[in-house]
Amino acid sequence: MRIVILPTAGEAVERAVDLIAAQLRAVPHSVLGLATGGTMEPVYDGLIRRHRAGLEFAGATTFNLDEYVGLGPDHPQSYAHYMRERLFRHVDIDPANCFVPSGLGDPAASADAFEALIAGRGALDLQLLGLGANGHIGFNEPGSSLGSRTREKLLSPDTIEANRRFFAEGETVPETAVTMGIATIREARSILVLATGHRKAAAVRAMAEGAVTAFCPASILQMHPQVQVVIDAEAASELALKDHYLRAEEIQSAREARR
Ligand code: F6R
Repeated sequence: MRIVILPTAGEAVERAVDLIAAQLRAVPHSVLGLATGGTMEPVYDGLIRRHRAGLEFAGATTFNLDEYVGLGPDHPQSYAHYMRERLFRHVDIDPANCFVPSGLGDPAASADAFEALIAGRGALDLQLLGLGANGHIGFNEPGSSLGSRTREKLLSPDTIEANRRFFAEGETVPETAVTMGIATIREARSILVLATGHRKAAAVRAMAEGAVTAFCPASILQMHPQVQVVIDAEAASELALKDHYLRAEEIQSAREARR
């Protein structure tokens, strides 16, 4: 894991935007795995700004990590709606190449269809991940099989509570979601995790320095050869080896600057 600690959330977001833009410039036909949630909102704002400055999305294909079961693409809290409003309609991507699991119909059929679509496009080139305060990635909650494929998962009470802020008062937050599986995520060629704020500090530590365990699904990323974890100082605050990561990053970025 390459752990990049930046002083502020704004700088961490900007670094994530840089990495996604670099991927698209290097491989315009990239297959990107995308995430939703609060952490990603400024990332998509940044990508829209880059698009206005010339970054093209026309060749890209995207697969989103998850969707709430029961919400159709026009529901304002659906992740299909989130992606359309926060990124897709602002850039030159072909909507026919933007895939979000369907929250309608039979969840098992939706999950299988999504998994087949990803397989049909080959591997994901870059998977963007947020991190749940409980260590989830996608909606693979603690206890998820580390070998799982896309399927319906029951959300933990913590996740339902954390996501309530996106729903209107009195509105029911869905209890299940169709989510890419952990094995599906692990097949991505490279992975970028973005986490910011104190609320994520314990999960960041468990992910990077804890045991590899289904209790913290993100910890499986320790087994992946191409993972960058971009975090701000608050999210890094519980890391035992923080000084080591800072020093390693200084050396690495000096080397990259010389190339
Ligand atoms: C969303 C997703 C989730 C979020 C995570 C963090 O597609 O897959 O894993 O990335 O719950 O959410 P925020 O950024 O709202 O804290």
